[in-house]
Amino acid sequence: MLMISLLLCSSVRSQLTTDFYSKTCPTLPSIVRRQVQSAIKTEMRMAASLLRLHFHDCFVNGCDASVLLDGDNTTEKFSAANVNSARGFEVVDAIKTAVENTCSGVVSCADILAIASRDSVLLSGGPTWKVLLGRRDGTVSSAAQANAALPSPFEALDQIIQKYTNVGLNITDVVSLSGAHTIGLAKCSTFDNRLFNFSGTGAPDSTIEMSMLADLQSFCPANGDRNRFTALDRNSTDLFDNHYFKNLVNGKGLLGSDQILYSSDLAASTTKSLVERYSQDSKLFLNDFVNSMIKMGNISPLTGSNGEIRKNCRAVNS
Ligand code: HEM
Ligand SMILES: *[C@@H]1O[C@H](CO)[C@@H](O)[C@H](O)[C@H]1NC(C)=O
Ligand SMILES: *[C@@H]1O[C@H](CO)[C@@H](O)[C@H](O)[C@H]1NC(C)=O
Ligand SMILES: *[C@@H]1O[C@H](CO)[C@@H](O)[C@H](O)[C@H]1NC(C)=O
Ligand SMILES: *[C@@H]1O[C@H](CO)[C@@H](O)[C@H](O)[C@H]1NC(C)=O
Repeated sequence: MLMISLLLCSSVRSQLTTDFYSKTCPTLPSIVRRQVQSAIKTEMRMAASLLRLHFHDCFVNGCDASVLLDGDNTTEKFSAANVNSARGFEVVDAIKTAVENTCSGVVSCADILAIASRDSVLLSGGPTWKVLLGRRDGTVSSAAQANAALPSPFEALDQIIQKYTNVGLNITDVVSLSGAHTIGLAKCSTFDNRLFNFSGTGAPDSTIEMSMLADLQSFCPANGDRNRFTALDRNSTDLFDNHYFKNLVNGKGLLGSDQILYSSDLAASTTKSLVERYSQDSKLFLNDFVNSMIKMGNISPLTGSNGEIRKNCRAVNS
């Protein structure tokens, strides 16, 4: 309890500011924007991948770029949610190099992730916002911490809500941030448990809409290649819109953790009504998403003289 209220306090009393680099790196926003634009031109999915990296950074030990550190199999990159899944590290390197070329040694990798996420959402047709800045980079990266903090697609809704609560986020944040699954892809292995013998019932997850079920069963057959990718939002894969929520209302959520926001018993008293409202009110979703992104970006930042400004996002300074 004490830990949770401490976390809550620190995330409310943020020391981050929107003009943190206005003197030391005034061109930072345009440098990052140009790099994200170029990465997305090569591969549209990169917008989704960068947004997810910021989420995986912030939920584990705060937004401190810990997810970017290379190392042995005890680092975050090797946690269940990240291994063979988290991507975009080369793009972050390219952004960092471009930033260092103009403003050497002043901009943190954690802030680069926050700006790149905002740009990714905007360049996918979503909303924009002023990013709070001034985070510094951490020196630890722990797979065990990531395994404990990051939600899994196989978890029940109460467990997922708990993981958000642990970092000072609430049920509104659970629903609005899940709307990030309006862009990007997921592997068969992250949802095929729903397709044939769901939770040992001998039948598919009954909350999946029939035509999508048939489609996914043939895309991800039993004993098939579980690394094949399909869209999280099959209606508008690359567009940041509220269709993710329309999908949930129609039984077309891809991950178990998506569909339970609408279909589980607990949803009826927690998340379901907000899913319905977002499905009908795009403005409300986009507005809440922005507020929740700012909250997520405020999770226990290192500021002042804590942490460091990494020279290379993959390694702590020597
Ligand atoms: C209950 C919470 C969540 C769970 C269980 C979850 C789980 C997942 C899984 C399993 C994938 C597919 C990974 C793969 O197949 O390699 C994925 C992709 C993605 N997630 Fe989440 N996620 C959650 C919340 C979030 C949040 C809060 C955000 C951002 C604000 C987010 C952003 C994304 C994006 C953009 C992708 C697509 C990435 C890409 O195409 O590279 N997710 N998520
Ligand atoms: C991590 O690496 C060590 C030594 O290389 C190995 O013994 C261990 O099994 C690995 N653990 C995992 C989870 O891969
Ligand atoms: C979640 O927190 C936000 C403020 O950060 C607040 O506006 C919203 O009403 C809260 N939602 C719930 C369900 O408590
Ligand atoms: C489904 O899984 C359960 C438990 O894993 C198993 O006992 C059962 O035989 C399976 N049913 C079918 C139809 O494969
Ligand atoms: C997406 O949904 C709209 C209605 O909201 C529909 O008109 C359109 O055909 C759908 N597109 C795809 C590719 O499913």
